[in-house]
Amino acid sequence: MFKLTTPPRIFASISLLMILVMVVATGLIQAPFFRKSIIDREAAIVRDMVYALTVDQDVSAADMQHYTDAAARRRFDQSFSTLVKLPGTARIKVFNRDSTIIWSDDPSLVGTQRSAHREHLARALEGEVQALFNAAGNRFDTSAQARQTEGTIECYVPIFAHGTDQSATTVIGVLSLYRDPHDLNRTIQQGLYLLWATIGGGGIVLFLVLYKVFRLVYDRQQAAESNLSKLTSEHERIVQIEKMSAMGELVGEIAHQLNNPLVGVINLTQLAQREAHDPERVAELLAEVRKAGTECRDIVQRILRINQISRSTLQPTDIQALVKDTIAFCQQSIDLRHGVDLTAPAESIVLNGDPVLLRQALFNLIHNAVLAAPEAPVHVALAVADRDKVAGIQLSVTDSGPGFDSATAAKLFKPFFTTRPTGTGLGLSVAQHIVMKHGGVVLAENLPEGGARFSIWLPMTTKP
Ligand SMILES: Nc1ncnc2c1ncn2[C@@H]1O[C@H](COP(=O)(O)OP(=O)(O)OP(=O)(O)O)[C@@H](O)[C@H]1O
Ligand SMILES: [Mg+2]
Repeated sequence: MFKLTTPPRIFASISLLMILVMVVATGLIQAPFFRKSIIDREAAIVRDMVYALTVDQDVSAADMQHYTDAAARRRFDQSFSTLVKLPGTARIKVFNRDSTIIWSDDPSLVGTQRSAHREHLARALEGEVQALFNAAGNRFDTSAQARQTEGTIECYVPIFAHGTDQSATTVIGVLSLYRDPHDLNRTIQQGLYLLWATIGGGGIVLFLVLYKVFRLVYDRQQAAESNLSKLTSEHERIVQIEKMSAMGELVGEIAHQLNNPLVGVINLTQLAQREAHDPERVAELLAEVRKAGTECRDIVQRILRINQISRSTLQPTDIQALVKDTIAFCQQSIDLRHGVDLTAPAESIVLNGDPVLLRQALFNLIHNAVLAAPEAPVHVALAVADRDKVAGIQLSVTDSGPGFDSATAAKLFKPFFTTRPTGTGLGLSVAQHIVMKHGGVVLAENLPEGGARFSIWLPMTTKP
């Protein structure tokens, strides 16, 4: 018995079952057709025999009407008694056009009108050969040896007149022949066995071919899946290694950033210890210590702020208002000599975003632009812009500073990368982190006319 654990086995069991059902169903559906065609063939043979016998004995329409005449009876006996010898014949009745039995192997029926299937008789009188299987049992053999359950085959064949051309289509009577279907049933049985064997054989060949194909496809799929899982785990391992090395690099940078002011603090305090007798010098050194400490705190605070980005809360945000607020804030907090101009569409643009974080990102870009070109105004532009067929908005900050070289371009968004003596190198990486959290990107480009443009692109998918 199959244990239905693996798919090929399930497939094999289901298809075998289907083939079995198909074979049995075909056998059951075909059996009646098979029987009908054999019975029809039998009836056609009887019709031909009757025709040959009646022609031979010259049985005429007049004989059918005057069936009690001695000459007619002799011709009937010579014609029809041959049929009684057909194996399995149980009864023969010959009817004339008035449906009266004019001859039978049971003489007591002659002169009567006994027929169980009047409609078949009527059709046969119109020239049609009628054949039917009567499953009701053997009506004629009432002996103990009779095979009661096998039924009877009943044929009604027209007897045609012969002589002139038109009379060949004139029906002068009907012969009904009742036969025991035992031999026929055996033929049908053998035919069905052959049919089932053929369908079953075909089914098994089909099953084997299908199974082979299925097995092949299944094995290939399994191999592909195992390769994929190997690749996935290899990929995860590489990503993990990359994460670890990026973290190591970041920690190294933080340590480096904090190390300089901390070394300064140690050196300054050692100096203060040595010069403890001079209070003025000590006060000077303590001021330096405080500056180094403040620097350390600023670095730590900026790192902590990166952590806050992960906890953003999105809400419908009016981008125009946000840009105006940020520019106003820049004017208060940065030493702006020339201000910031803004170009924006008239209608308001509302996106789902974290206004605090987006303000911070834009501020970082404006701050960089001001530092790159303190002597020239900074230009901010807001526009609706598609990117890779995705609807969105673009917020660009343009300056007329020196731009950046290719070595700088490769590291712009790297945390702690800075070319400025007082910079921490976190402005752009923080801006990029914020924008990416909103599903957008930060773009950097040098302008042909000089200066640089840093743009924030946000998708409209974040629309409320
Ligand atoms: N508008 C600009 N024009 C030219 N170079 C720029 C511009 N903005 C940024 N850069 C380059 O990118 C570097 C990194 O910028 P980022 O804002 O990350 O750090 P930073 O400005 O140096 O320090 P801070 O942490 O104070 O922002 C800058 O040091 C500078 O070399
Ligand atoms: Mg900066």
